[in-house]
Amino acid sequence: MRFGIMGTGRITRRLVADLQSTDGVAVTAIASRSAERANWFASQYGIENAVEGYQALLDCDEVDAVYLALPPALHRQWAVAAAEAGKHVLCEKPLAVDAQQAIAIHAACQKAQVRWLDATAWLHHARSKQMLDFVHGGGIGKLGHVSAAVSFYRPFQSGEHRLRADLGGGALLDLGWYAVGIACRMAGVMPQRVFADCVMEQQVPLRANAMLWFDQDVTASLSVGYDTATRKWFEAAGSEASVICDDFTRPWADRTTRYWVHNSAGEVQAHECADRQEQRMIETLIGDQSLAEFNQFAIQTQAVLDALIQSARERQAIDVVVPSLTASP
Ligand SMILES: NC(=O)c1ccc[n+]([C@@H]2O[C@H](COP(=O)([O-])OP(=O)(O)OC[C@H]3O[C@@H](n4cnc5c(N)ncnc54)[C@H](OP(=O)(O)O)[C@@H]3O)[C@@H](O)[C@H]2O)c1
Repeated sequence: MRFGIMGTGRITRRLVADLQSTDGVAVTAIASRSAERANWFASQYGIENAVEGYQALLDCDEVDAVYLALPPALHRQWAVAAAEAGKHVLCEKPLAVDAQQAIAIHAACQKAQVRWLDATAWLHHARSKQMLDFVHGGGIGKLGHVSAAVSFYRPFQSGEHRLRADLGGGALLDLGWYAVGIACRMAGVMPQRVFADCVMEQQVPLRANAMLWFDQDVTASLSVGYDTATRKWFEAAGSEASVICDDFTRPWADRTTRYWVHNSAGEVQAHECADRQEQRMIETLIGDQSLAEFNQFAIQTQAVLDALIQSARERQAIDVVVPSLTASP
């Protein structure tokens, strides 16, 4: 599958190599708002076509799929345009800025019969499946509580989209995407009710703390922010043991990929599981397995984030309304 890339930012610099090293994938074009940046990027990464403007990428015959690495507020517009141009879509997280936009992306892809996936790579790591199977198989007894913390410490450059409300900024949407994701995956369902409290800066959440209430007395507490050092961990606590992972969103670069099971006797078992989550994610998109479950989960995650954002605004707990979808191609 021939990919074209929209945007030349930080995550593109990382993901382009993952695309180029995945079997069955070629990166044939890169688009930027600036022709100069597109040309520079194309020459750095050996990409054949550099184009100015994102529409030019969609007009390019040598592109079958688009990797969309733009600020969140631009995802809907360009994912829908990509679908309408007949291109498959790999869209960075958060999928959009709200569930309505997320559903619009899904509907456009359904209509055009193209495949789409949110670029939530950790979901595709073999370790994530192992941890989830262990918890869902009763390995920790009855699940009671999930806690998750995802953060990194700014400084940001001026104009950073993460601090711009008009570009879909804020830690709740950006990092909450991961924390809500792990909590819901561990719980195996979406929460019924949520509460969030935010420390704001420039009208976006700089830090957010949240509570999620699930069926069967399962709860989750989440902490995300741009004002604490890098954290990407969670604990799933059950009646007999806990599963703990300190890098679930993306394994630390210089360590073996691991997680731990701590039991009531204080015994700790370490498990290792190496994988290349970005390649697995790309393979999932270009393969022929149904994406319905991933698509549904992305849209439901967005709906939970909608409720959290509403909760922070209204300073009260909010019932979650979870949309359900028809099948994906
Ligand atoms: N999956 C992950 O692990 C991960 C990690 C980091 C980020 N992300 C996600 O990827 C997306 C991009 O994040 P990033 O960190 O790569 O951002 P970034 O470094 O700021 O890059 C964003 C790119 O979008 C383009 N763009 C178009 N309109 C823009 C505008 N008005 N302001 C700023 N940039 C604009 C720019 O490319 P041109 O000017 O060249 O067109 C820019 O380089 C976000 O949704 C983010 O949440 C995902």
